[in-house]
Amino acid sequence: MPSSVKEGRVTKAKSKSRSTSSSVLSSSLGKRRREHAEATPKPLPLVERTNALPIDQFIEKYVPQSSLQLNLPGPKQKQKQTHDDKDKPADRNGDHDHKEQDSPSTTNYIIDIHTAQSVPPADFQACFNLIELTSSNDYMNSSIGWSPAKKRKEMKLPDMRYILLRPALAPGRPDTGQHEGGVDKAPSEEGTGAGKGQVLGFLSFMVTYEDGKEVIYCYEIHLSPTLRGKGAGKHLMTLYEEIGRRVGLEKAMLTVFKANTVARRFYDLLGYDVDEYSPQPRRLRNGTVKEPDYLILSKALKGNLPDV
Ligand SMILES: CC(C)(COP(=O)(O)OP(=O)(O)OC[C@H]1O[C@@H](n2cnc3c(N)ncnc32)[C@H](O)[C@@H]1OP(=O)(O)O)[C@@H](O)C(=O)NCCC(=O)NCCS
Repeated sequence: MPSSVKEGRVTKAKSKSRSTSSSVLSSSLGKRRREHAEATPKPLPLVERTNALPIDQFIEKYVPQSSLQLNLPGPKQKQKQTHDDKDKPADRNGDHDHKEQDSPSTTNYIIDIHTAQSVPPADFQACFNLIELTSSNDYMNSSIGWSPAKKRKEMKLPDMRYILLRPALAPGRPDTGQHEGGVDKAPSEEGTGAGKGQVLGFLSFMVTYEDGKEVIYCYEIHLSPTLRGKGAGKHLMTLYEEIGRRVGLEKAMLTVFKANTVARRFYDLLGYDVDEYSPQPRRLRNGTVKEPDYLILSKALKGNLPDV
């Protein structure tokens, strides 16, 4: 978590106040300036100002509308075996009867943006389920450990924002909740965005400070297994970076477990490098060197044009 999150909210570290002048003139000038300053409230710094925006104004100002819909290849479909196929050897599962083929069809997905407070409870639970499914093992095997309570608390930080991805449902078609991937256990519950499918992927982020720099920090990105490898992750990251660019932030940052080689390859392809503040190996008192189990990655946003 970035160091600037204090008591839940993002706050810039205070700079030391300047020494006071001894002259009478400067003291009376100082008094007048202080009175003026009290009369005209100082505008909030960029990060605090952005976090203070209601979500609808945040979306209007910083979210490109064209990114809120996407079309991805449909699920793989089982197809009946033809006569000719009968002579071919069984597949890896020993399945002679069916073969899997990429369906030519595509599925429409929609994206909506929320704060930690505005995420409907069922969507919040779907996000938590995705994290548990895809990352709890990495947490367990790391020095951090897996704590559902801590993760839920972090997910509820007031300045956290969510990009939620779900299939667009045809009008009148109820969501059964029976998606693949083991994360969509419950059918549409009360609290899920009305007329929308279950959340199958999300990215959570915060506009914050990291080592004094104004950054957009990606806390989580998780996709249901059936949605991976189709460009959805890249789409979410591109949208997240574009929001950071439009806000006027310096860089995009994230943390990745070293063991998560798929995610590291993914971030590498998206142009992320190891950040200058990524933790270094530590030499313990007994002389052994302890390698950190995670990396902090970043990508400059200013002067860096979007990939797509
Ligand atoms: C990491 C993750 C978000 C990637 O999303 P995705 O939708 O599968 O990735 P995309 O289809 O958008 O692929 C983007 C690029 O990454 C590459 N990539 C994605 N998965 C890959 C894999 N398993 N092996 C190698 N390259 C891969 C793609 O080839 C693609 O490159 P291209 O743009 O040159 O074609 C997704 O796999 C996931 O949810 N994983 C589980 C959760 C997780 O580990 N999150 C990261 C926590 S730090």
